[in-house]
Amino acid sequence: MKKEQDVTDIAAVDSIIDRHNSDVEVLVSILQDIQTECSYLPADALRHVAERLQVPLIQVYSVATFFKAFSLVPRGRRSIHVCLGTACHVRGAQAILEEIERDLNVRAGGTTDDGEFTLETVNCLGACALGPIIMIDDEYHGQMTPAKVREILKT
Ligand code: FES
Repeated sequence: MKKEQDVTDIAAVDSIIDRHNSDVEVLVSILQDIQTECSYLPADALRHVAERLQVPLIQVYSVATFFKAFSLVPRGRRSIHVCLGTACHVRGAQAILEEIERDLNVRAGGTTDDGEFTLETVNCLGACALGPIIMIDDEYHGQMTPAKVREILKT
């Protein structure tokens, strides 16, 4: 399946739908698998899901846009989440975010030109005592400083 803005491999979408027995009750799982495969939910894949499950396209889009975990635009191979919640904010989270934006040349909500990183902000990562905190993929990095962030991004 193509990972960028090319036309999606519909056979791969079909195989995901088949694995779920074309069951609209598990639409969320189908969309999760498509996103895992493509790194986002391509429009042509969503149209195909609607046709195969015989549900209105709006129903598929309402699920795809309801959950923050789903993305309708291509995402980077890796994700960086910067916490801007109150506990992290008072400890300098904004400076951490700006350092990452400068280093990777990407704004929050965007993906680097090389498709490597998607940078996002969140309101709390549930580890306030370690703030300011960022998460790269599933890994937490606490007590960040701009210098520490530069080091992490280098590696
Ligand atoms: S406010 Fe940042 S982890 Fe809770």
